[in-house]
Amino acid sequence: MKQILVINGPNLNLLGKRELEIYGTTSLEEIEKKSKEFSKNIKLNIDFKQSNEEAKIISWIHLCVDNKYDGLLINAGAYTHTSIAIMDALKAMKNIPIIEVHLSNIHQREEFRKKSYISGVANGVIFGFGEYSYILAIMAIENLLKKNNG
Ligand code: DQA
Repeated sequence: MKQILVINGPNLNLLGKRELEIYGTTSLEEIEKKSKEFSKNIKLNIDFKQSNEEAKIISWIHLCVDNKYDGLLINAGAYTHTSIAIMDALKAMKNIPIIEVHLSNIHQREEFRKKSYISGVANGVIFGFGEYSYILAIMAIENLLKKNNG
């Protein structure tokens, strides 16, 4: 089974409690459960992580640099718009697909959310579909992995 790492950044542990009108009522635990169920059916194994600390997120990306995973989904939360360190870590990854994910449509919100340091490094970006963004991202990474394997 292919191993997919899903990294969730700051404040995503508060899903279901924070800005419900933007992020919805589903908790991160429920998103994890649904992502794992969906992945099992298409024979992918999901390792789901969340941290409010930039250093931890970078260390998890380093696992991908060391080829411990076959694909990466990343919702870096607000670090998306600020973190050159996360972008640099992602740049060090080779031959492993990266999908950037967001629940909200970051282009319909404040100006500062329109800038993503991750988009330029990711294979693709999925945003604006709430919790369903994660399922779409899993579908996208499966497709990329299939393509890479011929
Ligand atoms: C987010 C969008 C970011 O701008 C924000 O800081 C988040 C969540 C999203 O999933 O929509 O924390 O990444």
